[in-house]
Amino acid sequence: MSAGRLADRVIVITGAGQGLGRAYARRVADDGGVPVLTDLNEEAGEKAAADLGGRARFVRHDVADPDSCAELAETVRREFGVLHGLVNNAAVFSAIQMRPFWEIPVAEWDRVLAVNLRGPWLVTGALLPALRAAGDASVVNVASDAVDLGRPGYLHYIASKGGVVGLTKSMARELGDEGIRVNAISPGPTYTEVPRGTVSPEQRTAMRSAQALHRDAAPEDMVGVVSFLLSADARFVTGQTVHVSGGLVLS
Ligand SMILES: NC(=O)c1ccc[n+]([C@@H]2O[C@H](COP(=O)([O-])OP(=O)(O)OC[C@H]3O[C@@H](n4cnc5c(N)ncnc54)[C@H](O)[C@@H]3O)[C@@H](O)[C@H]2O)c1
Repeated sequence: MSAGRLADRVIVITGAGQGLGRAYARRVADDGGVPVLTDLNEEAGEKAAADLGGRARFVRHDVADPDSCAELAETVRREFGVLHGLVNNAAVFSAIQMRPFWEIPVAEWDRVLAVNLRGPWLVTGALLPALRAAGDASVVNVASDAVDLGRPGYLHYIASKGGVVGLTKSMARELGDEGIRVNAISPGPTYTEVPRGTVSPEQRTAMRSAQALHRDAAPEDMVGVVSFLLSADARFVTGQTVHVSGGLVLS
C-alpha cells in the first residue's frame, strides 16, 4: 500500500524511455502509483524504469504493431490483472526533420501516422479488458498545440496529432458507459533532455513571446496535469483536450 493521488494505481505510459514520457512515469511513481513504462528503445526504457526503482516496470513495446500491443496486454493481465490508467505518449517526434509537406517521403508519412495515430488506437484497444476491469480507468492521449498553431514543416506530425484530438472525443463517448474517461493533454513547445529539429532558435523565441506566460516549458510543467487527469480528482472530466502551453493557444 502506498499514499498519494495515484496510490497503488497501475498506469501504462508508452514511449517512457526518454523525454516527457519518462517524466510522466516519474510523477506516477511520486504520486504512489505503479508505472509500467513501455518503449521501442529497450536500453532507454530499462534505464528509465531502473532509475525509478520501487515498483516501476519496463516492457519493450511497439505501439504501431498489433502483436506487440497484444503481448503488452497479456503481460499487464498476467502481472497486474487490472489497469487503472494509460498515457498514450509514444510518438515519432524528436527525430523529425522539418521540410515542406510536398517533400515528405511517403514511407515517413506512413510511419508517423502509424505510430502517432494508429498507436493510441491499437494500444487502447488491446488494453481495454484490463482498463474495464478497473471500473474507473482513465486514458490520457497526447496531442500538441502545434495543431492549433498550424505550424509548418511537419504536416504528417500535425495531421497525426489532429487525429488524436478527434480520437479522444469519440473514444470518450464510446467508453463513457463503462466509466472509462478519455482526455488529451496538448503541450506547447516543451524542452526535454532530448535535442530536436522541430524548433529553430528564432521560432523558440517567437513562441515564448506569443505565450501569455513568457518562459520556456519543462516536463515538470506537464506532469501535474497528466497526474490530475489520471486521478479521481478528474472523475467528471472526459473528452477534453487540455492545453498546457502557458497560454500559447487560448480555447
Ligand atoms: N516536447 C514537446 O515540445 C512536445 C510538444 C507537444 C507534444 N509533444 C508530444 O509529447 C510526447 C512526448 O514528447 P517527447 O518530447 O518526449 O518526444 P521524444 O521523441 O523525445 O520521445 C518519444 C518516445 O517515444 C518512443 N517511441 C517512438 N516510437 C515508438 C513506438 N513505435 N513504440 C513505442 N515507443 C516509441 C521513443 O523511443 C521515445 O522514447 C509525444 O507524443 C510528442 O508528440 C511533445
